Amino acid sequence: MLIALTGDKGGVGKSTIAILLAEWLVMKGHAVTVIDADPNQTSQTCVDKCKEQGYQISTPGAPYTVVDTAGTSGSSLQKYIRQADLILVPFQPHVADLETVVGWFLSLNENLQRHVVFIPNRLAHTKEQRDGLAELQAVLAEQGRGRLVSGLSNRPAVYPPVFNGRKENLFRTKLDQSAEAELRQLFESILEG
Ligand SMILES: Nc1ncnc2c1ncn2[C@@H]1O[C@H](COP(=O)(O)OP(=O)(O)OP(=O)(O)O)[C@@H](O)[C@H]1O
Ligand SMILES: [Mg+2]
Repeated sequence: MLIALTGDKGGVGKSTIAILLAEWLVMKGHAVTVIDADPNQTSQTCVDKCKEQGYQISTPGAPYTVVDTAGTSGSSLQKYIRQADLILVPFQPHVADLETVVGWFLSLNENLQRHVVFIPNRLAHTKEQRDGLAELQAVLAEQGRGRLVSGLSNRPAVYPPVFNGRKENLFRTKLDQSAEAELRQLFESILEG
């Protein structure tokens, strides 16, 4: 299964969710290949830092491949996206960002739209965000393609340290319990859907 992280916006959590998902799958006993197609190499750096400490996240040729990409429109149709079983698109549900996200989705062909899973990130659970998400949900319902899943709250103490090197799987470290529950709900819905 090829799972690609993309979208038209930068800094929305693609690399964070790529590593979290890879760690989740590894914790579940699956081998995962992590490919970092972003020149910034954020997720590759994390994989390397863990390897230096003796913990291997990525295994070549594994049944699951997680691809982190750069968040530019140029990359949105690159080869990984075209081949992906799941196209994961993190975004921040602000009104301005949503316009970009919806525009990007509508620019995809129908076949690609079918694989898209939108992941709201840095949720603050405000009315503005709820309204934005309802708007996106309405667009997806109208298209009859694409999914919107539960997403991740804004947790500055929890998610940035995901990129740090570690000696063991992230889910075996002391992880904030409500964050862990949120991640379980997110990844189960992504993979089951
Ligand atoms: N839910 C969250 N709560 C708090 N901080 C977050 C959350 N998600 C991501 N971040 C932080 O936001 C920053 C951007 O995240 P990340 O690097 O994953 O985004 P990206 O989409 O890969 O960015 P780029 O476009 O530069 O590749 C990072 O510092 C990350 O730790
Ligand atoms: Mg990134």
